[in-house]
Amino acid sequence: MAIAIRKWSGDTPSQGKFDFGAQSSEICSHSGSGGRNWLLLFSLFLRLSEILYESSMVVNSRVSAKVHSMCRSESILHLTNMVKRLPDDSINSWVPLNASLDELQKASKNCKACDLWKLGTQTVFGEGMPTAKIMLVGEQPGNQEDLEGKPFVGPAGKLLDAALVEAGIDRKKVYVTNAVKHFKWEPRGKRRIHKKPNAAEVAACRPWLDAEIAALHPKIIVCLGATAAQALLGREFRVTQQRGEFLKSPLAPYVMATVHPSSILRAPDEATRKEEMKRFIADLRKILEVH
Ligand code: URA
Repeated sequence: MAIAIRKWSGDTPSQGKFDFGAQSSEICSHSGSGGRNWLLLFSLFLRLSEILYESSMVVNSRVSAKVHSMCRSESILHLTNMVKRLPDDSINSWVPLNASLDELQKASKNCKACDLWKLGTQTVFGEGMPTAKIMLVGEQPGNQEDLEGKPFVGPAGKLLDAALVEAGIDRKKVYVTNAVKHFKWEPRGKRRIHKKPNAAEVAACRPWLDAEIAALHPKIIVCLGATAAQALLGREFRVTQQRGEFLKSPLAPYVMATVHPSSILRAPDEATRKEEMKRFIADLRKILEVH
């Protein structure tokens, strides 16, 4: 009988990684070797207990950290969802547990959970007051954000600022972040052209978004564009069909998706751009109805 051993190899739960198939054992079944078999079985039993104990400690420490950071949450559903996702897809060993936004921002500088850190100048983490009740989530930093290290400071950010002013929302009271924290681009001549992050890159970055949500505990989350919406609401979500609607979500009491500001910049003509801007502002105004 072959037994695969799953071994924890880190010093702390947030550092280690599971190493599958590290060992295998054969139980020999010769007649006349009963004593040896019992000894082997006993040592195997001890090893298995040890592994089970280690695994439960790892899972428990993660769960309790998440539980701790969510003490303020009214939503049991949220908690269940977080626990259900453990220990697989919510783990990114670069993300410190139960951390404040400041601590997360510092830790994010070293993230190498996917290869995008090689392309970007720096990690562009979320920005805003830690007491903000509104969280806006974009796709990924653009060229200017990558250079300045701040989200939404380029052309799309300027359009977003203008729309927020029109909607009567003070950007200083909003926390702004992205689904992916590094700029993905490809060269075109001397320019760096935005390239859409793929599903694996979005998934690798998702634990940062979860940690930001757990630290900020926003009342309202607005996803800007399909990448953010699909990162938080599922791959099937369609902004074209459900923009501007508040959706039931374990992430926050009010969750909505609308278009990305750069889609308005890309409008084919001035009339369409104006019309799209109006619709975008109307979506943002809905925030004030529940704020
Ligand atoms: N587009 C985004 O999605 N985020 C930014 O920060 C800038 C442009």
